[in-house]
Amino acid sequence: MKSKRKKISYPGFFISFEGGEGAGKSTQIRHLVKYFTHHKIPVVLTLEPGGTAIGSKIRELLLDPKHTELKPRAELLLYLADRAQHVEEFILPALKAGKVVITDRYADSSNVYQGICRGLGLEWAMALNDYATQGLYPDLAIVLDLPVKLGFSRMKQRVLDRMEREKHSFHNKVRRGFLHLSQKYPKRIQVVNAAQTEDEVRAEIQKWVIDRIRKSKENLIWKKLQK
Ligand SMILES: Nc1ncnc2c1ncn2[C@@H]1O[C@H](COP(=O)(O)OP(=O)(O)OP(=O)(O)O)[C@@H](O)[C@H]1O
Ligand SMILES: [Mg+2]
Repeated sequence: MKSKRKKISYPGFFISFEGGEGAGKSTQIRHLVKYFTHHKIPVVLTLEPGGTAIGSKIRELLLDPKHTELKPRAELLLYLADRAQHVEEFILPALKAGKVVITDRYADSSNVYQGICRGLGLEWAMALNDYATQGLYPDLAIVLDLPVKLGFSRMKQRVLDRMEREKHSFHNKVRRGFLHLSQKYPKRIQVVNAAQTEDEVRAEIQKWVIDRIRKSKENLIWKKLQK
């Protein structure tokens, strides 16, 4: 289904971090926040599910390992309800105020986890995402790509949530799903090899972010980055 919505315009810049479990999203987001702060560019950090008060309640429903009976369609719709609230209450106002918004997971996670891996269909996930987000996709989605085993070994002993407890084959499918999506939408999704050292990953992400901000528009953020 093609979107009939007009692209929302804003002076800010929207970045999502995607990928499998333990790929280094939180680590790299911290580096990127520091980078923007260093350049005196207003930046806000958020996450899905759970970026709002309503969202944190939805997060509890989604990630509680006890909720084994949750059905795929209900799972998708809960993620989308969280996202709809997140976009309207938090993300869009920040972008309209000219801020850089960095989110730990966004629409591509639903496209991959529910659309592809739960078998609900990528077309459905994308159409419903379009509705939930009012057509707002990130200016740049960074996919941190890592072999599943390495991701889980990095997570060490921490308690796993409902999604993380899925089988190894599910997580392999997640990895392939993100790679498939990035090949389909190369302009907005950038894969980064997360098996590199933390600093190498940081430098590569910074390079892609600068490149995309430069290409996106002659905006205030780009001017500040050059100072
Ligand atoms: N490039 C790297 N090389 C080795 N270890 C790393 C690297 N990046 C992050 N780590 C370590 O791997 C662990 C997981 O990283 P992090 O929490 O950033 O991943 P995540 O993608 O946010 O995971 P989660 O799916 O749990 O949210 C942390 O202990 C972190 O210090
Ligand atoms: Mg994390």
